[in-house]
Amino acid sequence: MSDSHAQSQHAGTKGHEGQADSAFALKGTILYSESPHQLTVVKDGYVICRQGICQGVYPCLPKQYQGILCVDYQDALIIPGMTDLHIHAPQFPYRGTSMDLELLEWLNTVTFPQEAKYRDADYARRAYQIFAQEMKKGATTSACIFGTMHVEATEILMDLMEETGIRAYVGKVNMDRNSPDILREESWESSIAHTRQWLEGTVGRYRHVKPILTPRFTPSCTDKLMEQLAVLRKEYHLPVQSHLSENLSEIQWVRELCPDAEGYGDTYDRYGMFGGSCPTIMAHCVYLTEKEIARMKEQQVFVAHCPESNMDLSSGIAPVRRYLEEGIPVGLGTDVAGGHHSSVLHQIGDAIGMSKLRWRLVDQSLKPLTLSEAFYMATMGGGAFFGKVGSFLPGYAFDAVVLTDQNFPRPYEFDPIRRLEQLIYLGDDRNLIGKYCSGKQIRL
Ligand code: GUN
Ligand code: FE
Repeated sequence: MSDSHAQSQHAGTKGHEGQADSAFALKGTILYSESPHQLTVVKDGYVICRQGICQGVYPCLPKQYQGILCVDYQDALIIPGMTDLHIHAPQFPYRGTSMDLELLEWLNTVTFPQEAKYRDADYARRAYQIFAQEMKKGATTSACIFGTMHVEATEILMDLMEETGIRAYVGKVNMDRNSPDILREESWESSIAHTRQWLEGTVGRYRHVKPILTPRFTPSCTDKLMEQLAVLRKEYHLPVQSHLSENLSEIQWVRELCPDAEGYGDTYDRYGMFGGSCPTIMAHCVYLTEKEIARMKEQQVFVAHCPESNMDLSSGIAPVRRYLEEGIPVGLGTDVAGGHHSSVLHQIGDAIGMSKLRWRLVDQSLKPLTLSEAFYMATMGGGAFFGKVGSFLPGYAFDAVVLTDQNFPRPYEFDPIRRLEQLIYLGDDRNLIGKYCSGKQIRL
């Protein structure tokens, strides 16, 4: 690579295709996590991609890479892409509305009627086109997405997500009890038959998108449905996503619905859908018992911490530092439309803010999250559900986003970590000027 080549490739003007097969470098101020406590900064550094895989970060271009294409993003920040461990695609249109309700009333009066609209494939296509475009324009490069119970709509969502180039797990939702007729599968048999039909149509069909089993939450699924989903899970080797211990009334309801279970977590665990050989994400985990914490640790169940949603639905404040200290894998989720922003960057600030409130008002033994810890959860922590994702350490998938802060004029110079922090708290999609997923440039 010659320097003149690097300078002729100005980010945001020309861009490049980021050919997945050949090596290239991005140049800029690079920040990435190596662990919850290690946020590494390399000013004016090079992050190198070969065949979609990160080859590491260097202050100078190493000899063996001289001559490769280099995109010089100059003063901009380059960070790993965000992982959204928990988002509901059908809820995207009404995010930021009806924020005065708690979970169960919100589900019944707002969410279930809205999700029922996705039985109409034309509506689903229109709505999911908007969702997919917005995901493409944001900083998320990996996502775990809930669809609805409808097979056709969920396939449309998967087709549209595939076109974005973003890595995603997408789930057809299972729900055969405790919701109105307009949004309830007729029986466990029909729920399983539709799920099988959906899996037959989607397993192995996409490059970036994979199916994930998605029992909505225990109140929506009969025991028989859970039992039979576990059979499908083994047959198709599927991961699982669901909700756990989000809201106090919900937890009480699960106690009444499943008196024989050892607790809410056990309503999944007793069917083998709670970690171990079954990669699992449980959203929220605001009120876990000691027993549940121990099982989640042992079985490495991922927590999708959704701070903004937990605030919007008045759910509570999850003890995230405890989970990190226990070694439970934790990532961040937007939980749109429980949460109002689809940006995981926003969740970093909210995770920190909520942890401060918990520390001040609830439990002085758990210190607030640091920026390094919250950034880790948004990138490497959640990314681990997808494999080696969410860092610029060698061997990780080359997922990068490039952020400019030129719209924040300053009377003095900030160090890179303060610049990142300000982008987290004040930035939006307009600050995003480059995005790569597995080494391929995503057109913004
Ligand atoms: N629990 C069951 N369904 C949902 C949902 O759609 N959103 C949230 N936040 N919690 C749920
Ligand atoms: Fe949710």
